[in-house]
Amino acid sequence: MKILNFGSCNIDYVYTVDHIVQPKETLSAVSLQQFVGGKGLNQSVAIAKSGFPVYHAGCVGKDGGMLVNYMKSVGVDTKYVIAPVETSGHAIIQLDKQGQNCILLFPGANDSVSVEFIDRVLSDFEGGDFLVLQNEISNLDYIINEASKKGMKIFLNPSPFNEKLKPDMFSKIYCLILNEVELSGIAGTSDIEKGLEILKDKYTECRVVATLGGDGSIYSYKDTLIKQPAFNVEVVDTTAAGDTFMGYFISQIAIEKPVDEALRTASLAASITVSRKGAAPSIPYMKEI
Ligand code: RIB
Repeated sequence: MKILNFGSCNIDYVYTVDHIVQPKETLSAVSLQQFVGGKGLNQSVAIAKSGFPVYHAGCVGKDGGMLVNYMKSVGVDTKYVIAPVETSGHAIIQLDKQGQNCILLFPGANDSVSVEFIDRVLSDFEGGDFLVLQNEISNLDYIINEASKKGMKIFLNPSPFNEKLKPDMFSKIYCLILNEVELSGIAGTSDIEKGLEILKDKYTECRVVATLGGDGSIYSYKDTLIKQPAFNVEVVDTTAAGDTFMGYFISQIAIEKPVDEALRTASLAASITVSRKGAAPSIPYMKEI
């Protein structure tokens, strides 16, 4: 069984600010740092750092050497990463004193994932292989359709939540991993328990994991409901916490750990990520957990 992540790679520009800038306000940042990030890349890094082999597929720009080199340095297989255009995707991240952030995305090369490229990559994978996806690349619907025809097990983080995500996609998903915003966007209610019930009734074969920050996480599938509390740590930067959780959860499921153990390991990993600054570099190795 192999794990393929078809996902975004971004250069993150992190501006430390007193508070998140408001409409009409002009604010000076305290500092600027550059990190390797992107939801897809972060999730691949988390899987690799947890000790499970992972292939990353995606597009960077000609300026994306740092993204590919970082993935390689932590053991991600980058043979399916191509550089078809000039500019990589990037994220402008404001990080406030409480460690909360807001993110503005420029897709760049992430929007160059073509149908031909998808066909070429997927031809190397088969039924039963895991496919990890987020919503930061082009042709997501095509990837889901083709992978589902092959019988791959699709783990989707529907983030960012927007009109590109269509209800018929979710019936092809093996496991949805989402936060409160995405859950309420898909279920149509901000009540977490109600939202999980709605998804369970609508997408009967889909496991759902809701990640709720300081309130921990909840797994829901058929008659099983498992709650995992969050670990109490000092929050420095929440960037990539969800990606760390997802990567670790998937790798633990891949080695057939029971779901409650997978949730606990994923939650511990994410708690270490939030105690450090930056995206991919803040993700811990299994030995630290
Ligand atoms: O989930 C965090 C990531 O979201 C950042 O690394 C940023 O690049 C955006 O994709």
